[in-house]
Amino acid sequence: MCGIIGINSNKQVTASIINSLKKLEYRGYDSAGLATLSNGSINEIKTEGRVDKLEKSLLSQNIEGSIGIGHVRWATHGIPNSLNAHPHSSNNVSVVHNGIIENSTILKKFLIGKGHVFKSQTDTEVIVHLITEHLKTDSYVDAITKTLKSLHGSFALGILFKDEPDLIVGARRGSPLAVGYGPSENYLGSDSYALKSMTNKITYLNDGEFCFIKKDYVEFYNEEGIKINKKVLELSTDEKNYDKGEFKHFMAKEIEEQPLTVKNGIKEYIDSHNNDINIHNFPWKIEEISSITLIGCGTAYHSCLMAKYWFEELTSMEVNIDIASEFRYRKNRFKKDNLYVFVSQSGETADTYAALDLCNKNEMKTCAVVNVIESSIARDSKFILPIHCGTEIGVASTKAFLGQILILYIFALKIGVMKKDLDIKKFSEKLVELKKLPELIKETLLIDNKVQTIAGTFNEAKGSMYLGRGYSYPIALEGALKLKELSYIHAEGYPAGEMKHGPLALIEEGMPVVVLAPRDSYYKKTISNMQEVIARGAKVLLITNKSEDEVTSENIWETIEVESTNEDLLPFLLTIPLQKLAYYSALKKGFDIDKPRNLAKSVTVE
Ligand code: AGP
Repeated sequence: MCGIIGINSNKQVTASIINSLKKLEYRGYDSAGLATLSNGSINEIKTEGRVDKLEKSLLSQNIEGSIGIGHVRWATHGIPNSLNAHPHSSNNVSVVHNGIIENSTILKKFLIGKGHVFKSQTDTEVIVHLITEHLKTDSYVDAITKTLKSLHGSFALGILFKDEPDLIVGARRGSPLAVGYGPSENYLGSDSYALKSMTNKITYLNDGEFCFIKKDYVEFYNEEGIKINKKVLELSTDEKNYDKGEFKHFMAKEIEEQPLTVKNGIKEYIDSHNNDINIHNFPWKIEEISSITLIGCGTAYHSCLMAKYWFEELTSMEVNIDIASEFRYRKNRFKKDNLYVFVSQSGETADTYAALDLCNKNEMKTCAVVNVIESSIARDSKFILPIHCGTEIGVASTKAFLGQILILYIFALKIGVMKKDLDIKKFSEKLVELKKLPELIKETLLIDNKVQTIAGTFNEAKGSMYLGRGYSYPIALEGALKLKELSYIHAEGYPAGEMKHGPLALIEEGMPVVVLAPRDSYYKKTISNMQEVIARGAKVLLITNKSEDEVTSENIWETIEVESTNEDLLPFLLTIPLQKLAYYSALKKGFDIDKPRNLAKSVTVE
């Protein structure tokens, strides 16, 4: 939810810190700040709002230094303003923090009792004064070790010391943190994306570990303060300079990338030569697995719901799904023969990671469906199914959603064949259809103009409904979420068959309602539900697939037809107009499309 950067160099660092903070803004953008060391003192500057504002205020201040830390904030404690922005500093220590310190109130009382004066409303500031307090009697290693042990909750920290001009300390528990290695300089960052423009040599800290970053080398310690060795990974440099290209927004680019990302996903898993699916290094015998539980948040949860329909159709397994923030506190009945699948684009979502941690503690079979393979959820799962979508920057997930459901569909096909629930002939037919999907997505993306004109109507409404049945129901939920998070209009995804049990009362003259009714086995029933809302004055946007048969209904406000394919794959195509509808609605409203208000790309706090 926040972004951290630290640079220890033999040259000036302020500009590089600003550049990295701009890359980190997708993690949070309420406020920003940085601190450097120069001439034996900590120079701190912080502003409310975006990094651009911080950059402007730097012009009027001469913040020098060859060592510094920076931070972009998504507020958890204390309103977003310059006072609560990070870094938080005393005379001797400056700290940037991502996470939540759950015992900050008690610690603050203790420290005030010791004479420490607090300036902000944040939980983070207790870390500054705790370290300062311990440094009165302890070495740096002991002061850090003792401070970290007294903190309850989650943190990724970057710490500067007035008296140590060649030291940045990084520490991690529950929030991601990485070290990067450059030529006579080294880095600390929330994730590899922040560091990729400077290096592709990365080390990830695990929970409980901390590090001392010097210009020429880095030392790692475990939570007891004992030195440890850590691997240096070389990340693929093909995404080194990921940028918007000719697109106005990352989201627009990521929507248009979907034919390619789906093609890459298919290439990764489908063995065309043997007409099979390769799930490499699957660590269990299929007989050991009789049921599956899929867990995620937000869009990733919609992927889980979509997968439930496919697993039920293609396998004989019992399939459960859960929202991670519910699962982690539920009185779960853990079963050894159940496979727990964690779906997460970032691989750092705190609730999903906590659910995984709970399953690991109960020694369950765990599998991660992730986009960031260096992420915590990937590292701590027993098996990974990467979605291979490349970096997704837009806070509203698009290509990663299609990537998630693609890999889950492929996984369901494979499990179906492994359990002999899906016969080989049907399996082969489905693979043939699946390989056509990238082209069908490309065709469907051409509906652009029609969606642009329709989007304005949604902007005038006080709310809308998205209805679907069966395979279309998860897509209705996902489409509604897109509209909510981009245009700030209330939109509710609902099972079409449920409207008459209450929500029909919401329908009034001119209310826009999206009805997903492809010619699948639910078509006739959904069309009847559509007529129920039209009869009450709704303006229905019908999203169906191309077909010779006419749609059997009048007074449909607008119709969008996606390409046709087999029933399993229609959800991929139905998603496209809904992504574009949300995009154009937000564009017409002039909202920040890649960084919608109040949100962040990776929710690393609960
Ligand atoms: C999706 O558009 C949202 N940005 C959000 O719901 C997101 O899907 C959710 O926070 C889960 O993130 P993850 O996939 O990185 O775990």
